[in-house]
Amino acid sequence: MRKVLITAVAVASAAVFALSGCSGSSNDRGGDSAGGDTAASGFKAGSVIGVALPDKTSENWTIAGQIFTDDLEKAGYKANVQYAGSTSPVPDQQAQITAMIQAGAKVIVIGANDAKQLGAQVADAKEQGVSIIAYDRLISDTKDVDYYVAFNNFKVGQDQGQALLDGLAKKFPDQKTYNIELIAGAATDPNATVFFNGAMDVLKPKIDDGTLKVVSGQDTFEKVQTDKWDPANAQSRMDTVLQGFYQGDTNINGVLSPNDTLARAALQSVSDAKKGPIVITGQDSEAASIPLIMSGEQYMTIYKDTRKLVAQTVDMINSLAKGDKADTNAEEDNGATKVPTYYLDPVVVTADNAAEVYKDNDKLAPLTKQ
Ligand code: BGC
Repeated sequence: MRKVLITAVAVASAAVFALSGCSGSSNDRGGDSAGGDTAASGFKAGSVIGVALPDKTSENWTIAGQIFTDDLEKAGYKANVQYAGSTSPVPDQQAQITAMIQAGAKVIVIGANDAKQLGAQVADAKEQGVSIIAYDRLISDTKDVDYYVAFNNFKVGQDQGQALLDGLAKKFPDQKTYNIELIAGAATDPNATVFFNGAMDVLKPKIDDGTLKVVSGQDTFEKVQTDKWDPANAQSRMDTVLQGFYQGDTNINGVLSPNDTLARAALQSVSDAKKGPIVITGQDSEAASIPLIMSGEQYMTIYKDTRKLVAQTVDMINSLAKGDKADTNAEEDNGATKVPTYYLDPVVVTADNAAEVYKDNDKLAPLTKQ
């Protein structure tokens, strides 16, 4: 079965080489990895493009799948969009990528569930001449990633750290020091460490000079990470921290949260413990968090317009289809190689600018008016 498919791909690829004037080799792999560099050998309209997304730990992933399906079809490709399930996401995603290779995908876009567990699948893809684009999350420790496209994650973290400081100064003008707690995302997602490091780049000097006090003492990524980005895990850790360290008059003033889903969980925990009000950060501009931003319960979020990120990815795919290199504006080290990267700029959102930032987003703009 697999051999038949590979042969069919080889025939199709040979036809493209002939059309585009490329001197494709006569091996039976289909596609020419051009000595391992990032230029593909081109492919034609109607080709299959695989999109392997992680389990839906936040709304942005759900939105991405819909937009990829629409935009790839509009651009003339056959979209094969798959999500890993939440029960066994890693083997799910591995199997989905393998199936996409076998289905003759020319490019596979991957939002990794576990960035360190896709080495074998992307190696196989490269062998078969399939280009790999890491989407939003970088794939670690492999040379077999052609491109990475994302919002600048370190900048997201720095923006969250700065917003926490600004929000604390505004909300508690009479205080010179603030009690805070830190939350990070899942260790399997390399973004989680980058968000945390970006935030700590801003917060650490203020912890060191005593302006901020992490009352629980839990101030390393390992101690504050949230398994699977699951809000229930963040909430139960916050419950324990609040019970253990915030008895009596000790109040909590702020929480660094890496995204909106976990921010809502932390707000619940603080409210259950009858503490607060707090300044809390977020990310993703989830619909459920916009009313909280407008009321000030959640001080900030980040807007990473998924439409733009998908459009940039489709742009990369169009370049590869022509046999060109894709546009990049950065390089990201994934532990094995420097991956050509395109970074978009994240936007900081508070109640002050939400209406303006979301004005062309049909789903979010109405939420800023209620
Ligand atoms: C994404 C965030 C998202 C998180 C959880 C990260 O990799 O960059 O936007 O909140 O995953 O789904």
